[in-house]
Amino acid sequence: MVLVRTKKELASLLSSFDKTRGIGLVPTMGALHKGHMALVKRAISENENVVVSIFVNPTQFNNKEDLVKYPQTLEADMALLKEVSNTISVFAPTVEEIYGDKTKTKVYDFEGLDKVMEGEFRDDHFNGVGTIVETLLKLVKPKKAYFGEKDFQQLQIIKKLVNIANLSVEIIGCPIVREANGLAMSSRNERLSKTMRKEAAFIYKTLNTAKKKFGTKSAKEVIDWVNGEFQKNSDLDLEYIAITDVDTLTPIQKKQKDVKYRAFVAVYAESIRLIDNIALN
Ligand code: PAF
Repeated sequence: MVLVRTKKELASLLSSFDKTRGIGLVPTMGALHKGHMALVKRAISENENVVVSIFVNPTQFNNKEDLVKYPQTLEADMALLKEVSNTISVFAPTVEEIYGDKTKTKVYDFEGLDKVMEGEFRDDHFNGVGTIVETLLKLVKPKKAYFGEKDFQQLQIIKKLVNIANLSVEIIGCPIVREANGLAMSSRNERLSKTMRKEAAFIYKTLNTAKKKFGTKSAKEVIDWVNGEFQKNSDLDLEYIAITDVDTLTPIQKKQKDVKYRAFVAVYAESIRLIDNIALN
């Protein structure tokens, strides 16, 4: 396992890789869990060289408290990665190394993908994600980069970013990994109480039933049903439920035969914001 902290060290590491063999990049903000490990394992199976970046990116946090409380667990992360393979390279820069003395965010035109759902509730979040992902892709120059479908909107925006910035990298989306009770794996789950971690299984259970209902009911009926279920649950506070076209992320008007849809939710549990989504057809 190699750990590099600066762009210079990263460049020298990359130059030691065999040029004819591609690099797989797994960008993360650390606090690694089984969801990240699934991305890392996939990257290892498809690339000769794998770089995992660990960087808590300040420009994508609209909520300062969330940034301050975001777990930073480099040692534990390195140990977990080592269990998977000791050939992984880790790039864990400081904020200054990436942004210099001004943490500036680039402004992108994601053609509306960033205006719905997370974009509506998290100001400038996707410009922050775009800024760091573009930076990492340009520094590491991977052939493939891996992202989880839990952040499905982010995944679609990163595919758009690659077009906008004209980067030659394949963006690979990987299925959501869930805890045994169905709760989508997230670094934020660590901040939930034991009881809430059980209770939050309600999110996936509700999405699953919504999927079944989507077969026979209209999108509005499904959305109303989900809203109703959360209203009955006083421990979980639903911020939004949306059903959208998977490609354009535009909210569904009327079901169309050849369009694939997904349902998305953001939920507050003990003031921790959790997101989840499910393919509906
Ligand atoms: O999904 C994440 O963990 C982050 O948004 C990412 C892609 C690593 C960018 O900071």
